[in-house]
Amino acid sequence: YGTSRINARGHLEIGGCDVVELAQTYGTPLVIYDEEYIRRRCQAFVQAFKDKGMQAQVAYASKAFSSIAICQLIEEEGLSLDVVSGGELYTALKAGFPPERIHFHGNNKSIQELKMGLETGIGCFVVDNFTELAHLHALAEACQQKVKILLRITPGIEAHTHEYITTGQEDSKFGFDLNSGQAFEALKQALSQPYYHVLGLHAHIGSQIFDTAAFQLVIQRLAQFVQEASKKLGWQISVLNLGGGFGIRYTAEDTPLLPQEYVYALCDSVHKEWQTLRQPLPEIWIEPGRSIVGEAGTTVYTIGAFKEVPGVRQYISVDGGMSDNLRVALYQAKYEACVANRMTEDNSEVYTVAGKLCETGDILIWDLPLPRVKEGDLLAVFCTGAYGYSMANNYNRIPRPAVVMVRDGEAHLIIRRETYGDLIRNDIPLMSKITQK
Ligand code: LLP
Repeated sequence: YGTSRINARGHLEIGGCDVVELAQTYGTPLVIYDEEYIRRRCQAFVQAFKDKGMQAQVAYASKAFSSIAICQLIEEEGLSLDVVSGGELYTALKAGFPPERIHFHGNNKSIQELKMGLETGIGCFVVDNFTELAHLHALAEACQQKVKILLRITPGIEAHTHEYITTGQEDSKFGFDLNSGQAFEALKQALSQPYYHVLGLHAHIGSQIFDTAAFQLVIQRLAQFVQEASKKLGWQISVLNLGGGFGIRYTAEDTPLLPQEYVYALCDSVHKEWQTLRQPLPEIWIEPGRSIVGEAGTTVYTIGAFKEVPGVRQYISVDGGMSDNLRVALYQAKYEACVANRMTEDNSEVYTVAGKLCETGDILIWDLPLPRVKEGDLLAVFCTGAYGYSMANNYNRIPRPAVVMVRDGEAHLIIRRETYGDLIRNDIPLMSKITQK
């Protein structure tokens, strides 16, 4: 993965940094991001559109991992940013991210969040439903500010890794339904509203997608819709946002395409459909999250307790778990791992890696072949960069881990480890106890 290798000491090294030393310096659990890798992925997506001569915006979906430093890096690479909450927007703005390159998503943006987007001058709102369509326009009108929007469409296509399914009318909380005529009605309404500039359409069909067939189907459906809209409403689309969802390799079972393979397929498909439409090509926007940061992240834990269930299983416990990686408990996600300080030793054992949280389901990896390990060894779990830290929580009052970014032998702390003090920062003692003092 990325710039990781085994160094002369037999340790795992990422971005030129010895992982054992990083663990000593910053403690564990520690999330390590390979900066070079993130930049390469950003550049691959951007370059692929250039190769195809397509006007495009690549927006990093910051829900995958949001922090000031990552927003700054994404900004430097020239990408746009997709935010889904006031909190993600706040983070981006604090990072100095240019508001005009920010897109605001979400199926229940509050009035306060809509105002925040308007006041800070973000580039575009992806309007999800009729409630938002009414609220946002009223707010735009009140401040006499024309606002750029995309309409989120539910195309009735859902991609599930390898296969995709199409349902007549998709049952989803997101977006305007295409097949029932809702999408057309929304577009009609939006076009009749003077403070809206309807740039285009958006569709996101799922995550961790390994092939391009579902994307092609969506483009086909949206092209039909665009044709209908142009005939009946005289509307011309400028932006087609195809969402994110490009897959990554968590384990050897996963077979993702390269960023450029996804992009080429999208571009070819848009070209093909638009040829029959005889309309100017829209700009293509995409919103990769996982495929930018997922494989760039590694979480390092210290191995603590051992337990053997004789004849059944050997458990090793680590100093984190579902508090820093909820994906295993939530989606039965699979990960690969190794022992960062024993990289040259052969696997002789099979361990099940347990987290330290009070839940039977807090298992990070089942039946993992590893060298024989000792208390204090370091377990490095790969591919934790997307939806790991961003879904971290304080269950059992466990502080969130520290996050470092490594490159060319240098490490930079980008998120401090939470302290116990942080955990009680918002706690308010009982009045009776305060007055007693
Ligand atoms: N755009 C929209 C509208 C989305 O809903 C999402 C993800 C993305 C872009 C980015 O998708 P990506 O490229 O990262 O697959 N917590 C789950 C993933 C939830 C994804 C939600 N939406 C996980 O850990 O697998």
